[in-house]
Amino acid sequence: MTNDNNIQTRHRNALDQLAPRGQEHVFRWWDDLGDVDRIRLLNDLESINWTVLDELITTHVVARPDSDHTTDIRPAPVHRQTPDAGQEQLYDRALKRGRSLISQGKVAAFTVAGGQGTRLGFDGPKGMVEVSPVGERTLFQLFADMIVAAGRRHDVTLPWYVMTSPANHDETLNYFSSQAFFGLREQDVRLFPQAMLPVFDRSGRILMADKHLIALAPDGHGGSLKALVASGALSDMQQRGVEVISYFQVDNPLVKPFDPLFLGLHAETGSEMSAKVTPKAHDLERVGNVCMSNDRVRVIEYSDLPEELAHSTNTDGSRKFDAANLAIHLLNVAFVDRVIGQAFQLPYHRAEKVATYVDDTGDKHTPEKPNAVKLETFVFDALPLADKTLILEVDRAEEFAPIKNATGDDSLASAKDAQVARACRWLEDSGVHVPRTKDGQPDLSVVIAPSLAMDANELRAASDHIPDLRSGGWYLLE
Ligand code: UTP
Repeated sequence: MTNDNNIQTRHRNALDQLAPRGQEHVFRWWDDLGDVDRIRLLNDLESINWTVLDELITTHVVARPDSDHTTDIRPAPVHRQTPDAGQEQLYDRALKRGRSLISQGKVAAFTVAGGQGTRLGFDGPKGMVEVSPVGERTLFQLFADMIVAAGRRHDVTLPWYVMTSPANHDETLNYFSSQAFFGLREQDVRLFPQAMLPVFDRSGRILMADKHLIALAPDGHGGSLKALVASGALSDMQQRGVEVISYFQVDNPLVKPFDPLFLGLHAETGSEMSAKVTPKAHDLERVGNVCMSNDRVRVIEYSDLPEELAHSTNTDGSRKFDAANLAIHLLNVAFVDRVIGQAFQLPYHRAEKVATYVDDTGDKHTPEKPNAVKLETFVFDALPLADKTLILEVDRAEEFAPIKNATGDDSLASAKDAQVARACRWLEDSGVHVPRTKDGQPDLSVVIAPSLAMDANELRAASDHIPDLRSGGWYLLE
């Protein structure tokens, strides 16, 4: 078949699918397009799985999905960072087991970096944001430093998997190449894109991002499970002997990807997928609540947790539902392998966002208010599929400072402050004097590189190498 015939046939086939669904507007500029653009448009259209989307457009785009009707909601059992009475031996065993899992190369780091970072508004993949208060390290560089440092400590090569999206894959890969994979071996770093889904207007019509481009968006961090399998990353892990995936988001510079206690408790309790949580800032904090429901662990959005439950207390007055999801998980390779079958599908969530689009006359618009409906799946919805889940409560200030917004809470500035604050706590804990202002804030900028220490204990052991710290100083301790 000639190229021309081929394009015409594909065009006809696509029209046959689109016309009965009222989506033929995507071909409005077909006659003006050259072959390259026509093929691009057809490729995108052919990637759409209409059997899934037909129903979703009705239930999640045109209408709003029913709110979560989870029943039998109870607090989830939580392990603390220090053992409760009677748990000492378990914690001792867990620490040893966690270290041994790392040193045997059974743990891989997995960063999800396919998001669009719309709230931050950074021009480029979020992992390229310079996040270190001193030393201009980017998020990707920082994670690489942690992986190198953990590998050195445990005398092992630790692999790193990074999920991108088709929208940022090339730029991310070019960045990794330009940085010579940050000192890691190229064969130990694997980048792969997640799947995309069309973006709709509220009437369920696919938005056009350009005359030859349908608007597409990544299918949510839940898409990472399918992408692990589809990309071959999961088989790669199996071949390397990796058993546990340490999942974290690209936006959290405080994450500890190789946490022996978390890994060890996960393994000792026979868990398939685990989660780190932190106490909530207040009853109605806008976070996912890690709860039990019908004997399964699940995350219930703040908006779906009945208010009387959110305000309920234990007999000692403490908050009953006090486990905020930190989006830090461990997943067994065997678990991902088990759940991702042909019929596997995490539930879809609806999100209203701003999307640039061309209107029916060909003019481009970027509205100020949300105009588009995106469909996403969330990785935490895999928790109820796990036969066993370990939940570890950690200190938010030690492990969580996500960069979501351009300013204010959860911004680059607040994440830098959180890194300095944590470094100062570790230093003081090691007996090092930290200059502070009258109101108790650190009066210096200081970064503790992972090569020096990845937690307060490690810093204590290395405290001889720390210089005097002066007010107003800038220190990169490595
Ligand atoms: P967020 O939900 O915070 O989204 O992602 P975002 O894309 O970073 O920011 P906004 O909402 O557009 O402002 C949490 C984590 O999940 C990843 C992100 O890269 C981030 O690490 N993610 C999100 C994906 O990998 N794929 C997605 O489809 C969505």
